[in-house]
Amino acid sequence: MRILVTGAAGFIGSNYVRYVLTEHPMDRVVALDKLTYAGNPANLAEFDGDPRYHFVHADICDAEAVGEALAGCDALVNFAAESHVDRSVMDPAAFVKTNVEGIRVLMEAARTHDVRRIVQVSTDEVYGHVPIGAAGEDARLAPRNPYSASKAGGELLALSYFTSFDLPVMVTRGANTIGPYQYPEKVVPVFVTNAMESEPLPIYGEGTAVRNYMHVADHCAGIDLVLRSGEPGAIFNVGVEFEVNTVTLATSILELLEKPRSLMRLIADRPGHDYRYSLDSSRLESLGWQPRYAFAEALAATVNWYVENEEWWRPIKSGSFRAYYERNYAARLANSRPVEAT
Ligand code: NAD
Ligand code: DAU
Repeated sequence: MRILVTGAAGFIGSNYVRYVLTEHPMDRVVALDKLTYAGNPANLAEFDGDPRYHFVHADICDAEAVGEALAGCDALVNFAAESHVDRSVMDPAAFVKTNVEGIRVLMEAARTHDVRRIVQVSTDEVYGHVPIGAAGEDARLAPRNPYSASKAGGELLALSYFTSFDLPVMVTRGANTIGPYQYPEKVVPVFVTNAMESEPLPIYGEGTAVRNYMHVADHCAGIDLVLRSGEPGAIFNVGVEFEVNTVTLATSILELLEKPRSLMRLIADRPGHDYRYSLDSSRLESLGWQPRYAFAEALAATVNWYVENEEWWRPIKSGSFRAYYERNYAARLANSRPVEAT
């Protein structure tokens, strides 16, 4: 298979390129990425010179560039997105452009290039806050922040190309993902790298929000299984069951790094914070998917990677990231409070 992987220089996209070229060594990958603040050529540096791999620096909203990259490809997996909720609250415009208009451009190009398999990588956030139980794929979509609303718009648009034009589109809705190469704006790399620097761990609200953290290798395996075995037009949740709140997450990270609990700080909450996500992934399991990592293993492996790869994240944290960090956290940290001992 020759696969166009868009958003390939980001966290999950780069892990997916690695997954494909390891698990399917006869496959070819065309990796396309705009290289926004979140895209990093270092994430894919090991493939430079590999004849099975070709990188294209382009925007998924650029129809000509996308058409050229897609020529000769059998499949398309789209990871390209503006992906961070906090940034979407500050500045939604780029989210609508890439996460909705970008999908239209990709789908139009796929129509003209006879692509056989297409996966639009979406998120469990499209279900919104799930107070009890687990969302199945038929649950109501109720996104509550500009990021998740744009992702819902993008996946619905992609699926409309299945019903309207018979384009073989599938959608995955993945849970919170952790592992190597995650940009240090998401909670786990923020907490790990801050703890390593003995900086405060900023916990939103009371730290009671729940997520299901999944290792990126398990997420990539799920997406790849859908690409190769999913039924066109179908939606697949990709998630693990284990629930962790933010204080427990921070506590586990501090214990792994042997840092004091006093680094945890409760700060003003995220606007529109979804306090719980939960997925029923039995449809994907019926295709043969099972997560390999328990939460503790996934977290320990992730922490270890950041400990061993300081040369990857230190330049990011000292660059333009600082301005974002100040904007999102400085005032809130100035008014923060400690987590009471339990
Ligand atoms: P990321 O922010 O690390 O990577 C996104 C990549 O897309 C970057 O390399 C960026 O340069 C690229 N990109 C952005 N705009 C682009 C454009 N217009 N054209 C081409 N490339 C562009 O994100 P991630 O965490 O790797 O997420 C990848 C996908 O998975 C996203 O679609 C996200 O919605 C989805 N997802 C993420 C998670 C998670 O926990 N991280 C969970 C479920 C689903
Ligand atoms: O659920 C899938 C989604 O997971 C993906 O679609 C998104 O791309 C990805 O960013 C992620 O979104 P979340 O908003 O769940 O992840 P984030 O890491 O931003 O936050 C996880 C939890 O931690 C959430 O309850 C908010 C909290 N948090 C986050 C940050 C960044 C904090 O308490 N402090 C922080 O500094």
